[in-house]
Amino acid sequence: MNIVLAASEAFPFCKTGGLADVVGALCQQFAARKGNKVLLFLPHYRNIVRVSSLKIVPGVYLIPIGDRIEQVSLSYINWGSVLVFFVGNRKYFDRPDLYRTPSGEFSDNDERFILFSRAVLEGCKFIGFRPDLIHCHDWQTGLIPAYLKTVYKLDAFFTRTRSLYTIHNIAYQGHFPYSAFRKAGFHPVDYTSEKFEYYGGISFLKSGIVFADKINTVSPNYAREVQLDPAIGFGLGGLLQSRSHHFYGIVNGIDTDVWDPELDPVLPVGYDISEVTSGKAAAKQALCQQCKLTPQPDKPLIGIVSRLDYQKGLDMAVGLIEKLQDKVQFVILGKGDPLLEKAFQSLARNHAGSVSFNEGLNEELAHRIYAGADMLLMPSRFEPCGLSQLIAMKYGTIPVVSHVGGLVDTVKGYQPGKEETATGFFIEPFTETGILRTVERAISIFEDKTIWMRLVRNAMRQDLSWDRSAEMYLALYRKTLS
Ligand code: ADP
Ligand code: GLC
Repeated sequence: MNIVLAASEAFPFCKTGGLADVVGALCQQFAARKGNKVLLFLPHYRNIVRVSSLKIVPGVYLIPIGDRIEQVSLSYINWGSVLVFFVGNRKYFDRPDLYRTPSGEFSDNDERFILFSRAVLEGCKFIGFRPDLIHCHDWQTGLIPAYLKTVYKLDAFFTRTRSLYTIHNIAYQGHFPYSAFRKAGFHPVDYTSEKFEYYGGISFLKSGIVFADKINTVSPNYAREVQLDPAIGFGLGGLLQSRSHHFYGIVNGIDTDVWDPELDPVLPVGYDISEVTSGKAAAKQALCQQCKLTPQPDKPLIGIVSRLDYQKGLDMAVGLIEKLQDKVQFVILGKGDPLLEKAFQSLARNHAGSVSFNEGLNEELAHRIYAGADMLLMPSRFEPCGLSQLIAMKYGTIPVVSHVGGLVDTVKGYQPGKEETATGFFIEPFTETGILRTVERAISIFEDKTIWMRLVRNAMRQDLSWDRSAEMYLALYRKTLS
């Protein structure tokens, strides 16, 4: 199968969240299976990493944006057997960050991702690669399925091309004024509520849902929630219901080459399930030293590795950290909401030695926290899948999570007498007091080493790899083509 993946980020080249991990891992999974040729298209951002040997495709091609014409160049690398193409346009992508400045979203994000989406299709022609399937991700590529069914409908090059659209997060919709519809070059006749129109403007996410041949999201439970719970569907639940025969939920995995406590190069000692006690003790000690926490091996250490965003519910945990800081230690790694960053900074200042806040994106520290913490706190208001809880479990760190989205599909909640299977704790009810009580409950179980180690081993034994889900994607690809 000729497969194109199009996304706005992919690990290890550029990443702001789990989208990148998933896109990177899926490319490698598909390419590793016989008979697939896999191309990945990414924007050529200023700060892409691990691309020392970029090759240039000679020439440029042109993309219209409204009345203007923009030039696009392509460069590429061989990443294992995946060909990664970087869509170059300096005006749009040569910037310090992917989507925003510190004070807000780039004001031309509509043009940036109109250009990118169309440049993926024109790029396929430019290099002469006819995709059977284009797998698009999130709002940034929502226009690709739309282009295929409108502007490129009669283009013989794409006659056999089908599209799959994966929604990683329905809360980010790429909602722009009507002018973006015109800049994208669609015909006014298609500006109807059944197609592009969305509250007087255009939503790139809605466009993807309307026009893709198949749609999926990243866990079965979130696929149900977005259709049934208006607070989680963010206005698109009804549309997804109307396409429910073409809408699937496939749970994420993690890349077990990147996330492996036994071989992780940043840990003081690697550990597997049989050495978990000593391995985690060493990781905890090193983490405390790095983060200037007073070493207290018998106190639980709670880790947080997260975007600091409304979705993640961490504003509801600030009070709890204050209340519990003499019973537990906290190490927080996060970037986002400046107010939340300030709140965590002041907690760390006031409780030096028991609370550490690390602002920013830091892959290495993330690995050290997943290994060195005893628990991972994730009080998400909604969570399409979540990777942090998966990574935590792989490292024998017990997730304390809210009962939503993919967290429900991936964590098995502790109940007294059910320690046979439990891998974590569900926060119930979802209130500040509920979070506090659940963490207190987890702390009391932590003190019973027999039960705790049972949970740790259960967590580490889960199959969290991509094997099964990658097969499910390929089965969905085949269904999309048939
Ligand atoms: P989301 O995609 O909603 O942010 P996920 O749990 O699916 O949440 O994925 C988050 C990914 O980003 C994980 O790989 C996690 O380790 C990583 N991550 C989140 N915040 C940071 C950070 N501040 N530094 C490094 N990695 C981070
Ligand atoms: C999104 C979601 C997260 C999911 C990730 C990868 O960012 O917020 O839950 O795990 O995408 O699919």
